[in-house]
Amino acid sequence: MYKKDQQKGLNAQTKDFLKTIETVGADQLTDLRKVLVYHEWRYYVLNEPLVSDYEYDSLYKQLEKIEQDNPGLITPDSPTQRVSNDLTSDFSSVPHLTPMLSLGNSYNLEDLSDFDTQIRKMGKVPEDEKIDYHVELKFDGGSIALVYENDLLVRGATRGNGVKGEEITSNTKTIPSIPLKAQFSKHKIHKAEIRGEVLIRKDVFKQLNEQRQKEGLTLFANPRNSAAGGLRMKDPKDASKRKLVAFVYQMGFAQDKDGKNLLPGLKTHRTTLELMANLGFKVGEDLSKVCKGIKEVFSFCKKWEEKRESYPYEIDGMVIKVNSLALQEKCGFTAHHPRWAIAFKFKAKQASSTLLDVEYQVGKVGSITPVAKIEPVSLAGVTISSISLHNEEFITSKDLKIGDQVLVERAGDVIPYIVKSLSDSRDGSEMPIEFPTNCPSCQTALVKSEGEAAWRCPNYDCEAQVLQRMIHHVSKDAMDIDGFGRSYVERFQALGWLKNLPDIYRLDYAAIEDLEGFGAKSAQKLRSSIETAKKNPIKRLLYSLVIHHLGKKVSTILAKNVDHVLDLQNWTIEDYTHLKDVGPVVAQNMVDFFANADHVEMLKEMEGLGVNLSQTEDDRPKVISQDAPLVGKSILFTGSLQTMGRKEAQEKAAGAGARNVSAVSGKLDILVVGEKAGSKLKKARALGSVQIMTEEEFNALFN
Ligand code: IVH
Repeated sequence: MYKKDQQKGLNAQTKDFLKTIETVGADQLTDLRKVLVYHEWRYYVLNEPLVSDYEYDSLYKQLEKIEQDNPGLITPDSPTQRVSNDLTSDFSSVPHLTPMLSLGNSYNLEDLSDFDTQIRKMGKVPEDEKIDYHVELKFDGGSIALVYENDLLVRGATRGNGVKGEEITSNTKTIPSIPLKAQFSKHKIHKAEIRGEVLIRKDVFKQLNEQRQKEGLTLFANPRNSAAGGLRMKDPKDASKRKLVAFVYQMGFAQDKDGKNLLPGLKTHRTTLELMANLGFKVGEDLSKVCKGIKEVFSFCKKWEEKRESYPYEIDGMVIKVNSLALQEKCGFTAHHPRWAIAFKFKAKQASSTLLDVEYQVGKVGSITPVAKIEPVSLAGVTISSISLHNEEFITSKDLKIGDQVLVERAGDVIPYIVKSLSDSRDGSEMPIEFPTNCPSCQTALVKSEGEAAWRCPNYDCEAQVLQRMIHHVSKDAMDIDGFGRSYVERFQALGWLKNLPDIYRLDYAAIEDLEGFGAKSAQKLRSSIETAKKNPIKRLLYSLVIHHLGKKVSTILAKNVDHVLDLQNWTIEDYTHLKDVGPVVAQNMVDFFANADHVEMLKEMEGLGVNLSQTEDDRPKVISQDAPLVGKSILFTGSLQTMGRKEAQEKAAGAGARNVSAVSGKLDILVVGEKAGSKLKKARALGSVQIMTEEEFNALFN
């Protein structure tokens, strides 16, 4: 039932309506439908939802329940009588071979038990017999339907309104996990439709947004939107940049040459998945399970709910399907969903809250990040009270005000994210957010370079920046001072021991030893980590200095090309840009950095304290001999390797001249297979052109 406390943040129309819902008559039903249609339009058409998915589902279920109890009141235009729509006029529309339906939703064991009872009734399954359910991940991306004819991918389409979809063949062809050719004919299949979901890995999504932020572009709300949007890019090249991945979960249609339906030849849903996996599709069959009875289904769903965050893709629930295709047939479909399947939705990751205040953080290069302080809300088991607002443009584009009700979403490790402000709930007391003009730490006037989204504090000596810089300096990617993390830096700074980078190398270990929580042993350990770090190659030192735009890659390039860090004092912009991959912006920043006498002094001070400033063996380029065993070859590792880790294997291959690639394609030369190799091996075999090597054979190349 719809609870009062879930009404916070609903628009006035929904709130008013909910007051009248208790007494059900035809008028209230019409209103309920109107509210649902309105929210569908906000979500699908405007992409600006006003309520969370959970709230929408509660309303939808309410309508469904009333209609079930009063079938005479069902109208053909009720939201329960159609599948959702993502059609626009930009693409031509194509009919699906069979309709792409939606799924009913469940949220708890009770809902699942009701589903089980219904299946028993429809299939006349005795009480004491446990039904086999196939329980799989409910991928949260954009749905696709792929048509294969004569083994070739001939069409890709979005789900559209379920009956017709948008024709996006060129875009689907850019997705490496979708085979352009698959051996359907081996199974006598002449024409087939494969259904699935297109996703973006959470870490790729994060990088994509980081890049967009750097370029001052609007950020994607979540991986789902960027995947679904990627499918509908006008230029397939742009689609391919999103690094989309397709998981398939259903064979909607399979016919032989004479037009005979071949699906009845298969006994279970599981076998259709195995068939698709064998054909080279990414199925995720190893992530799903055939469960005996509904209790086992529930515990498998809960298990996945607990580990959903650690899974690299977004999943918003599980899908439970009757495994036996004969029993599926007995259950049939409603106009909206198959009766033999149901979604189990995980706890909501969206909720509404109040925007209380905005604080401003100073980053290591001085970028000012606004951070929203919100009334704490619990999202999928985590309490959220602070959310990054990225930059000033984000605040403006979302029209945020202090005191606003905001819709908050949490997707994987990527977000919390403010989806939007619920401006309909404003009462006039909301206050505008005033972006500061001066640094909140050192009061220097903020600057914004052309083409950058963030305001920056230009003062290299700003205390807040120095703190962040020291934290970066000791971190794993920079000087990698083992055991020296943020908390030590903050503590030592508060004690007045750390004012700038050189202080890290003149710490008083006797004083550290006497600190609470330390002792001789840990002080000694810290000392030895710092001593080790002093000998680091200069590529690490350069990266640790936090020079704007100087990343790891360019630090490595510069380190290869300079004998001593202080020689960079004499470099001109052209000396830098002469090097491949070094652009004019970072070149200017380097020149400015070394033109500043304080910076040179700081480096000399560090050198005096024993920090290495001279090129080391590790900085010098490794020359790969033309006789190395894998020169010019592209290589991929699959399955679990027994004698070394994946990274180690890749480094070994690179050292022997190979180029590591991430997917099987016609361009792949060698596939090294470890244990339990799956679809990559199948695909490579199908291609025929790839040399398949065991781990032992790979190792033998080095003997
Ligand atoms: S089965 C006829 N299985 O969830 C069967 N759907 O409302 C209907 N989805 O957007 C779909 N993972 O694309 C099915 N393992 C899975 C799924 C899945 C994600 C999506 C589907 C659609 C929505 C269903």
